[in-house]
Amino acid sequence: MNYDFTNASVTQAAFKAGMKRIGKTMDLVEKAAIDNHFAFISELEDYDLINRAGALAKHFQDADILIVCGIGGSNLGTMAIAEAVLGKHYPLRNAPQVFFAETVDANSARELESILQHAIDAKKRVVLNVISKSGTTTETVALFTFLIEIMKQLPEYRDHIVVTTDKGSKLWDTARQEGYHMLEIPKNVGGRYSVFTPVGLFPLALLGIDIQELIKGAVHAMSYCLKDGKKNPAALGAVALWQYSKKGKRIHDSFLFSQQLESLGKWYRQLLAESCGKENNLRNRKVNAGITPTVSIGSTDLHSMGQLYLDGPQDKITTFIELDKQEEVYIPNNKNLALLVDNIQGRTMKDIMKAILDGTAESYKKQKMPFMRITLTDTTEKTIGELMMMKMLETVYLASLLDINPFDQPAVEKYKVETRRILAGR
Ligand code: PA5
Repeated sequence: MNYDFTNASVTQAAFKAGMKRIGKTMDLVEKAAIDNHFAFISELEDYDLINRAGALAKHFQDADILIVCGIGGSNLGTMAIAEAVLGKHYPLRNAPQVFFAETVDANSARELESILQHAIDAKKRVVLNVISKSGTTTETVALFTFLIEIMKQLPEYRDHIVVTTDKGSKLWDTARQEGYHMLEIPKNVGGRYSVFTPVGLFPLALLGIDIQELIKGAVHAMSYCLKDGKKNPAALGAVALWQYSKKGKRIHDSFLFSQQLESLGKWYRQLLAESCGKENNLRNRKVNAGITPTVSIGSTDLHSMGQLYLDGPQDKITTFIELDKQEEVYIPNNKNLALLVDNIQGRTMKDIMKAILDGTAESYKKQKMPFMRITLTDTTEKTIGELMMMKMLETVYLASLLDINPFDQPAVEKYKVETRRILAGR
């Protein structure tokens, strides 16, 4: 993986000031343990938990259909890794086929019901993985309740259900009473930091992802994201986002020049938004902190957003993410079409995409728009795990610079409480 921060540079003084504050967070990262907020790091060494997720996936290795029922931190990481590693169109060709049940969208639920019914009628093997840290998320519980009625047609249907939740949640207790398979989410790992726990590891292993390699990548990121210097991309990224936000650039656009990375962009969107969007700082002063994450796909979104980005409000900092190892696909020679666009026939798609990205970066430079550039060598499990851990560390470093708590989400709770009140007719 290669990082280039030359076009989002900060002054030496700002870098030093930032590193001083990040240094304190690095000390906490070094002390990561199961009983503190940095459990998402210490969990990388919880081999029991990792192996249990892998073993249960093996138990279901002949499954034809996997339904992942969960929302937010409970499914975004899985979606991101599966799409990045297996390819944009993997749901059409992967075995098992995966469906994500994430919100109470009646039409999607009806579609899923019919898919599930067909699968059951055709005697296909189905696994339902319900994932909820709290065990009380309205959407997830509603969908679980809906899907279980269909699942009940299966003989021994309980053996087809895996519940992933906090030990001791109401869902945990229900799962135990009912005799479903159960996987534990470590208490101190928050939803958006949980992809390397059974939340992500079980469904991903079932989809054929090498979870050991994924973890290896995350561990590798740790080896350089704890360094105190300009070779630490997590720290450099955090300082750049912090400094430019102070200059009014409070939108961070992840511009991914690879379609199979779109869900990764959405995973990061949640990570940054929920971790750094806070009303109060650590000293309980009202600050309404936050940097708004957006996701763009290259080159597609140049044809929808490029005009705004280049000529509109100068309130953004961008991270371009590109992919080095790609299929070699040539544009064939074709006399009839040769006059339409010069210099594309006989070239690879990768070369053309690179020219578009370099051209975009050049125009950003001319407009003095700050940007960082990350080049992924490939989309193997190891590389994707590495990038995700780097981004998690960048986010907690950024939170320390913004003086806020990256691990809670009080506003999400606010809407959940209001929803329950409305449903209760109060
Ligand atoms: O990151 C978070 O904590 C949230 O996005 C949660 O993942 C999301 O609200 C779903 O919550 P739960 O896993 O408790 O159902």
